Amino acid sequence: MNSLHSTIKDFVKKQENVIITDKRYRLSYHLMPPVGWLNDPNGLCQFQEDYHIFFQYSPFDAEGGLKLWGHFKSSDFIHWDYMGAPLLPDEAYDCHGVYSGSAYCEDGKLHVFYTGNVKYTGDFDYILEGRGSAVIQAEYDSSNGMFSNKSLVLENKDYPEDLSCHVRDPKVYKEDGSYYMALGARSKSDVGEALLWKSDDLKNWSLFRRITSRHKFGFMWECPDIFSIDSHKILSISPQGVEKSGIRFWNVYQSGWFLLSKESEDCGSQSISGDFHEWDYGFDFYAPQTFQDEKGRRILIGWMGMPDAEEYYQNPTVELGWQHALTLPRELSFKNGVVCQMPVKEMTALRQQKVVFESTLEIVPLFELQIENPSGESFSICAGGMEFIYDKIKGRAVLQFSGTEGCGRDMRMADVSDIFALSLYVDSSSAEWFLNHGEFVFTTRFYPLTEKIKLEVNGQKILHSLWMLSGFEFGHGSQFF
Ligand code: FRU
Repeated sequence: MNSLHSTIKDFVKKQENVIITDKRYRLSYHLMPPVGWLNDPNGLCQFQEDYHIFFQYSPFDAEGGLKLWGHFKSSDFIHWDYMGAPLLPDEAYDCHGVYSGSAYCEDGKLHVFYTGNVKYTGDFDYILEGRGSAVIQAEYDSSNGMFSNKSLVLENKDYPEDLSCHVRDPKVYKEDGSYYMALGARSKSDVGEALLWKSDDLKNWSLFRRITSRHKFGFMWECPDIFSIDSHKILSISPQGVEKSGIRFWNVYQSGWFLLSKESEDCGSQSISGDFHEWDYGFDFYAPQTFQDEKGRRILIGWMGMPDAEEYYQNPTVELGWQHALTLPRELSFKNGVVCQMPVKEMTALRQQKVVFESTLEIVPLFELQIENPSGESFSICAGGMEFIYDKIKGRAVLQFSGTEGCGRDMRMADVSDIFALSLYVDSSSAEWFLNHGEFVFTTRFYPLTEKIKLEVNGQKILHSLWMLSGFEFGHGSQFF
């Protein structure tokens, strides 16, 4: 480890001594930064039985800044240890940020592949010139909880010439005995795409295929991920620059998936013609990543936030010294032609007492509500300034804020012909609404003004079950939470 490494490590430790004393809006069963800023989930994996969740972390400023990786570990998704910041910007090729990446575990080793971000000094636009975006590999050393043996895998000169400097977010996986790495990219002519690289040894990589959409779909594709569920091959991306269209794409940036067809895979380059399906219809969801656990489940975790949204809506936690969180881990399945997401079943361990109520009650925002709608009627649910309205006649679901709890968040919609079930998970300042066992999801932050919020379920034939939930349990490092 070089001296820059020790200096940054000391700075992080010092910063993490700044304990957040005002716990307002701190979440109970979602992962948050100990202090400062969090964005993308990184390096998701199950390694030697434990689940590892790394994340983009900027402890020095609740509004972002120099990025490191922070680290959480758990054996059951309920008991968590905060493990510190194991990957730091301490080399010339990553000195302006250890950006997003993924993990690959094999032969008792946890490898990570991430983006080393460098901004050269000069009069540059940092799109076409002035930025270094390298792929770097490192290995996890469980004896000290740090990543070591960093090595440069790819750098800008290795990428196709028609690309801008924006090439990042390696996602590594194995298929039919070969290793693949997906990278997100922006072309010089402002078209988003994914690059697919292939390797036999995880060290030497050659460009295998470029994946684009038949018609331009945004200027940059961030955080690509390729995986299969029940033999359906999925490409997940977080595109930037997609225009608002009807009730779709109202967020600053999007994230969703395409189906990759076998036929187009056989050609050298792949252009996608199918629909783009949004992962989430709420205000706060971006840059998800998936991994397969030892039980064979494909699990997705997203960043419960939205970049560059400050002019539209805010998070009052900034004044309290922190910002953003991760979504619940969601198990993916493929049903009726779409990828569905539901919280992993481990979350049922958070259930405490069941609460019986007619249609209204005052409640601490720490609960799970399950709704069944056997007659398929219109209904609405109000919770702490959030209003969820399902209009059967219009075939539309709306999530909107009636008061100030949304801090600028207004309304999001999805066309849903039938809602027969809804699961709502409310934490102190977050809500995840899963429709039809995860066919549609709305994720949002909200900021209640009082300790208890009003919950109201309106619908003649609606059946509901409500549980109070406990929080995650934190071990080592728990003073932060
Ligand atoms: C997505 C993203 C990634 C990048 C990281 C930097 O939110 O912009 O493309 O690697 O965040 O923090």
